Amino acid sequence: MNYLEQIDSNNIPQHVAIIMDGNGRWAKQQGMNRIFGHRNALTAIRESVEAANNIGTKAITFYAFSTENWKRPKFEVNALMRLLVRTLKKNLPEFQKNGIQVKAIGNLNRLPKRAQNTLNKIIEATKTNTTIIITFALSYGSREEIVNAVKNISEKIVNNELSIEDIDEKIINSHLYTVSLPEVDLVIRTSGEQRISNFLLWQIAYAEFHFTEVLWPDFRKNDFYKAVIEYQNRERRFGKTSEQIENLNE
Ligand code: IPE
Ligand code: IPE
Ligand code: MG
Repeated sequence: MNYLEQIDSNNIPQHVAIIMDGNGRWAKQQGMNRIFGHRNALTAIRESVEAANNIGTKAITFYAFSTENWKRPKFEVNALMRLLVRTLKKNLPEFQKNGIQVKAIGNLNRLPKRAQNTLNKIIEATKTNTTIIITFALSYGSREEIVNAVKNISEKIVNNELSIEDIDEKIINSHLYTVSLPEVDLVIRTSGEQRISNFLLWQIAYAEFHFTEVLWPDFRKNDFYKAVIEYQNRERRFGKTSEQIENLNE
């Protein structure tokens, strides 16, 4: 069954954030090592971007490496970093062809120099593309992001560039790595885990969640559409009553 036809084009999530989980378990099922799972995650990324593009989602964010993932065995961390450099380089022509703008969020200074250089080149080369924005969360931790925002705001106060009274939700938003991205409407997490793992804590205040048992390397366009259909069947009330929302829609 093709779920694309069931999607309501008037209610498309503008920003979908994905916690790509289950590469290791997927590889284990195949009798292979964890790195094999990470290598096979790339098709799922590609399929998700295509699906997002097909329905008109303007931004898609992939949680690719968390601040906590630095604690993994060195062998795995190194393999992930190499995979990142190789994949970005290889896909640049495709990003350009399809009008994809690439961004990265996280403590990027912690990445190996080679990864930083490649990333910067790709970000620079694609910055005027407008079809869709794909953001990779790399060495990303939401608590660290918030700590950074607090530090940057404090510095502006000390330098008299900002007063305490100026601090509001907008100011905090504008000091997060996600400053230029639309509000997150939908969060997808694969592999059956139902937790946030330090991802976009501030940004998902009113996002909808879709958890699926599918392991990330098996995730395909139809899985993305299924998540969107579930999203469209929810009533987003933002604190209001159902009746108020219905009246609005009339
Ligand atoms: C997600 O898959 C990829 C990263 C966190 C880098 P995992 O590597 O966490 O796979 P599992 O959870 O061990 O199956
Ligand atoms: C979350 O996955 C981080 C990424 C998807 C990059 P993990 O597999 O590292 O999460 P936990 O530690 O099991 O919650
Ligand atoms: Mg995992």
